[in-house]
Amino acid sequence: MTKADNKRIGIIGAGPSGLAQLRAFEALEKAGVETPEIVCFEKQRHWGGMWNYTWRTGVGKYGEPIHGSMYKYLWSNGPKECLEFSDYSFDEHFGKPISSYPPRPVLFDYIQGRIKKSNAKNYIRFNTTVRWVEYLEDKNQFRVILDDLKENRTYEEIFDFLVVASGHFSTPNMPYFKGIENFPGAVMHAHDFRGADQFKGQDLLLIGSSYSAEDIGVQCYKHGANSITLSYRSNPIGVDWPEGIEELPLVTHFEDDTAFFKDGSSKKFDAVVMCTGYQHKFPFLPDQYRLKTKNNLYPNDIYKGIFFNDLPNLIYLGMQDQYYTFNMFDAQAWVARDYMMGKFELPPKEERTKDINTWLDKYAQVETANQEVDFQTDYIKDLLTLSDYPDFNTDKVANMFKEWLQDKEENILTYRDKIFTSVVTGTQAAEHHTDWMDELNDSKERYLMEPEEEELIPDPL
Ligand SMILES: Cc1cc2nc3c(=O)[nH]c(=O)nc-3n(C[C@H](O)[C@H](O)[C@H](O)COP(=O)(O)OP(=O)(O)OC[C@H]3O[C@@H](n4cnc5c(N)ncnc54)[C@H](O)[C@@H]3O)c2cc1C
Ligand SMILES: NC(=O)c1ccc[n+]([C@@H]2O[C@H](COP(=O)([O-])OP(=O)(O)OC[C@H]3O[C@@H](n4cnc5c(N)ncnc54)[C@H](OP(=O)(O)O)[C@@H]3O)[C@@H](O)[C@H]2O)c1
Repeated sequence: MTKADNKRIGIIGAGPSGLAQLRAFEALEKAGVETPEIVCFEKQRHWGGMWNYTWRTGVGKYGEPIHGSMYKYLWSNGPKECLEFSDYSFDEHFGKPISSYPPRPVLFDYIQGRIKKSNAKNYIRFNTTVRWVEYLEDKNQFRVILDDLKENRTYEEIFDFLVVASGHFSTPNMPYFKGIENFPGAVMHAHDFRGADQFKGQDLLLIGSSYSAEDIGVQCYKHGANSITLSYRSNPIGVDWPEGIEELPLVTHFEDDTAFFKDGSSKKFDAVVMCTGYQHKFPFLPDQYRLKTKNNLYPNDIYKGIFFNDLPNLIYLGMQDQYYTFNMFDAQAWVARDYMMGKFELPPKEERTKDINTWLDKYAQVETANQEVDFQTDYIKDLLTLSDYPDFNTDKVANMFKEWLQDKEENILTYRDKIFTSVVTGTQAAEHHTDWMDELNDSKERYLMEPEEEELIPDPL
């Protein structure tokens, strides 16, 4: 008898993290190991999480809050070589080298590639929202209340382990600025931004100074906005912006269509997009089991960044802020799998707390972006020692991240034209047939065309 016998595992979400968990178990099955019963619940009708683009905003067909925050014309904002699955390479999927910064549909295709080859779909219940979770202390089990959205039916199931892979870039953090209620134009959060087209010719204000502000600003500039103003709270992004994009300190208030800034300046705008980040939100979990954290590289209360310290059979995946993405989710999922399979025991709570505190102390020393990269790299290295997830050269990946940071600083409009070399296959990326700034079409078909097919490529301009 193994620990796997008669155990049930519930996974919440079929985004990259939830799919990584399914893949981890599949790897065992392929090796002839019997695995426990697994059910993955996904509230959307399809897998891929964020990468499953939706035109919808607000609520979906069945009245559930829309999960997706991605938009048309979204291209990878980091080199694909930094996120490559170490057990399923880009070469294996595409059969030829592709560029280092693919658009969303191409990365979505890649994520689906390895999962389509498995029987993972049989484990996923789509259109099913996890509504509530209760921990049954006497049985050390979870009672999970589920809504079958299509059938409009509520039911419950019992699990021994619960994996929370529900993402944390979906519930907007939406601050208030005095007078914004009288702003006559569009006011939205980045979560509801679906593409730059609607802002053509407009003067756009973006509040925030992180990835969303940077990328939505550059996208709108590329697709014809008249001007972009970025407004920062703590620090400006601080790159050499092209004419037409500027950074100002925080908005103090609005008077009709005019925004006033901390430096005393003011400007009229047509629209405001709050690029003010997201909340970790787990409305289906009781208060004491909810991960309560800001978006950072080492959330408190989860041992190895995975196991909820007060209740380790409650497992969180992908809850960190992310330099590493898909390969980090994999590394976590493999460790979580081995724990659930009973391959190792966790140390007692005091030791786990000590370990968490050691990482938190180390994180407190981090000041620069390069140090953040090193910190997350060390975290991945630690995870890789704990399972048989195929090792990959994290030092080389860290160097690529640092190069990427430098490239962005040198030219925010051209960094996506750079290419890198895979640590999984050693393949050097191909140059894309069109410079990113001139490429207005993000379809997979156009992206995968060969340069010699150029006359067949519709002119993007
Ligand atoms: C705008 C934007 C751009 C990004 N761009 C990049 C990029 O270029 N490169 C990169 O590597 N990363 C990028 N990311 C990071 C992205 O979050 C990760 O790549 C990845 O999607 C995280 O995977 P996840 O599975 O943890 O979460 P998600 O992808 O968010 O998936 C979570 C899943 O859980 C489901 N779910 C949630 N609640 C419930 C519930 N109660 N019941 C059932 N199902 C539920 C959701 O429907 C969803 O399918 C971007 C993120 C955003 C917001
Ligand atoms: N592929 C792509 O191109 C792409 C595009 C967009 C987003 N993304 C991904 O999406 C994820 C989330 O990025 P994000 O930029 O949305 O969130 P984020 O990185 O958490 O940044 C949040 C930003 O909002 C600011 N902010 C928060 N509250 C504020 C307030 N009250 N007033 C003013 N500013 C406030 C923060 O400022 P402080 O610094 O002061 O805290 C910070 O600049 C990242 O993983 C990113 O990689 C990727």
